[in-house]
Amino acid sequence: MKSGSVFLLVMALLVPLSSAVRAQGPAYQLGRTPTPEEIKAWDIAIGPEGKELPPGRGTVQEGEKIYAQTCAKCHGPTGTEAKFLHGPLVGGLGSLTTLQPLKTVGSYYPYATTIWDYVNRSMPLDQVSSLNPDGVYSVVAFLFYRNGIIKESDTLDATSLPKIEMPNRNGFFPARPEWKPGYWQPYFTPQPIPRVKKP
Ligand code: HEC
Repeated sequence: MKSGSVFLLVMALLVPLSSAVRAQGPAYQLGRTPTPEEIKAWDIAIGPEGKELPPGRGTVQEGEKIYAQTCAKCHGPTGTEAKFLHGPLVGGLGSLTTLQPLKTVGSYYPYATTIWDYVNRSMPLDQVSSLNPDGVYSVVAFLFYRNGIIKESDTLDATSLPKIEMPNRNGFFPARPEWKPGYWQPYFTPQPIPRVKKP
């Protein structure tokens, strides 16, 4: 087929489609613009640097109470227990490079803020998002204490949480934005390598 006829064919297919979409769009009256409050309620993602963390503060002691009341029934009394649907929350430090890697809150996650986000958005699984920010800071403090990441007297808030250096912080390959022009990074290399120019 000549390129002119390909163009005509493509146009023949596209033109009715686009006019049909234009004609039908308003008739369906689908959806509406979300209100600023709705966007705020959905917009709960916490990035690695924790800039979005809400005010609040949590202690290991308070977290221990919350854990016993709301988490232990599924995750076991100490967090080291593995159950049917998930692995333990505590332990496994230094195991990731062994033949029996144990991924837990302490051994696997590169960012402390990710645990906060995870617990805030999805735990306790039977009453999702029922903890207030203080409760999430506290239960995360308790899990970090049990994993040997913070001291029993430490408190967590929007300033101290992002400063925690997780044990596996450097166990992941760098994020893609660290690529430079003229370099490429196959999945098996930890650093970008220069592209070889073709002669
Ligand atoms: C009704 C049972 C249930 C309750 C209650 C519950 N969890 Fe979970 N939790 C789960 C399940 C199931 C998973 C695994 C989910 C998955 O892999 O998709 C999980 C996963 C997790 C993880 C991720 C574990 C990992 O290694 O990636 C964390 C952290 C966690 N829960 C913390 C908590 C905390 C803190 C509480 C209490 C505030 C809690 N959970 C209460 C069932 C529960």
